[in-house]
Amino acid sequence: MTEEPISVCIVTFGCQMNKLDSELLHSELVRNGFSITDDPGRADVVLYNTCSVRGHAEDRVFSQLGSYRRRAKGDGRFVLGVIGCVAQRLGEDLIRRFNYVDLVCGTQAFLRVPEHLRSILAGGGPVVDVTDGNSSYGGPSCHRMPGVRESRHQAYVAVMRGCDNFCSYCIVPYVRGREASRRPRDIVEEVTALAADGVREVTLLGQNVNSYGRGLDGESASFAGLLALLNDVHGIERIRFITNHPRDMSDSILDAVARLDKVCEHLHVPAQSGSDAVLARMNRGYTAAQYRAIVARARELIPDVELSSDFMVGFPGETDADFEDTLELLRGVRFQQSFVFKYSPRPGTKAARWPDDIPDEVKRERNQILLAAQQEVDRARRAALVGQEVEVLVNGRNKGAPAGLAAGCVAPGGAASVGRGAVGLVGRTRQNDIVVFEGPEQLLGRLCRVRLTHSTALTLFGRLAEAGAPLGHGQRNRS
Ligand code: 5AD
Ligand code: SF4
Repeated sequence: MTEEPISVCIVTFGCQMNKLDSELLHSELVRNGFSITDDPGRADVVLYNTCSVRGHAEDRVFSQLGSYRRRAKGDGRFVLGVIGCVAQRLGEDLIRRFNYVDLVCGTQAFLRVPEHLRSILAGGGPVVDVTDGNSSYGGPSCHRMPGVRESRHQAYVAVMRGCDNFCSYCIVPYVRGREASRRPRDIVEEVTALAADGVREVTLLGQNVNSYGRGLDGESASFAGLLALLNDVHGIERIRFITNHPRDMSDSILDAVARLDKVCEHLHVPAQSGSDAVLARMNRGYTAAQYRAIVARARELIPDVELSSDFMVGFPGETDADFEDTLELLRGVRFQQSFVFKYSPRPGTKAARWPDDIPDEVKRERNQILLAAQQEVDRARRAALVGQEVEVLVNGRNKGAPAGLAAGCVAPGGAASVGRGAVGLVGRTRQNDIVVFEGPEQLLGRLCRVRLTHSTALTLFGRLAEAGAPLGHGQRNRS
């Protein structure tokens, strides 16, 4: 009789890079004879892939770990592991704090998780592995197995990892290490394999993606060059990338976005603040005026471009006037989307040495004000798109209200009937806006054109114009 494989449940917190790491680890575990389950209650091994970007993200992991105390202590076979950024940051301390945790494995030691699990399961005792320097991580040897990803049609691809910027608030350089880019041919090979497996849209990931290529030994690789190589991969229809540092948003990259038909006209370029004093203390390397100049340049070079941003409120010493500058930047640029975070001191960073002097109520209030301002922009921006025809990549079925019935529509009109067999579908424009419409299920994973009929702050609604034919370059949005 063959033995049942050991089942592993991976619970993922944090950014897209963490989601991708979980997919890579999933493949690695299956290759090593483990099975994967979504149900932590039935798993022999539960692994938390963790985020330490804010204190809140860590606290959530700690409270979940606490809920395993009884099971971990009572069931000798059960294995509890912490991997990723919190593991990298705390190392041994995690085991001192949670003495029933069996595995602590950092961001650069993922490929060793199967071997560590085998040792723990064989009775070898707890393992802490937070060493770095596993350069094959992210390389060709740790591809996902076909189908191991959240969506059939979309995939994340790490092109570089780590960060050398040392923004004064940020834990990432400490937990993800120094910047390292993958070789272009490995990335092309991975994207080609993904295309063969049905992927139509790739999102290139890097903590500082637009500095890709810096320090690549013996090869002259630039991010613009990489985009050009990937634009030629047969079967891929869209290319996105996150996250960009404003300082590295060069003309050559903007030109590449303008020129290459598959590269979407959406740039996530976190501003963080609109105050020069705060930006300087954050060690961001630009002023608000320089940031605005980058936005103007992107708009000049790339027709139809949309930008999105992250903002942080309550950074040490942030005055009302500093905050007003941020509000003005957010309103002035009219971002396609803004993510707003309350500053959270991260031990070991430069900013953590300064008093966290903005009270939580003030942080909360500033957070609300920025979100409300963004919502006004959202409403007006999306309402202005109504009437246009846009290219949509269909991601899935719409689980919300039928297209014509959503509350708060700007111009209720209802989607046109598209005949029998039509279902509610949801997809994204090239600019990353969500579009809901009705159409045949066969459109899942395909590009189509949708005439926009109405909108809410966060969603566009429309009716199918014509299936299967992407818009030609330079005429992506037509009115
Ligand atoms: N506190 C709050 N937000 C942070 N971010 C990064 N570090 C911190 C911190 N210490 C935010 C930044 C970044 C996003 C991913 O998280 O806005 O762009
Ligand atoms: Fe969180 Fe940053 Fe680690 Fe991503 S890289 S999981 S955002 S700490």
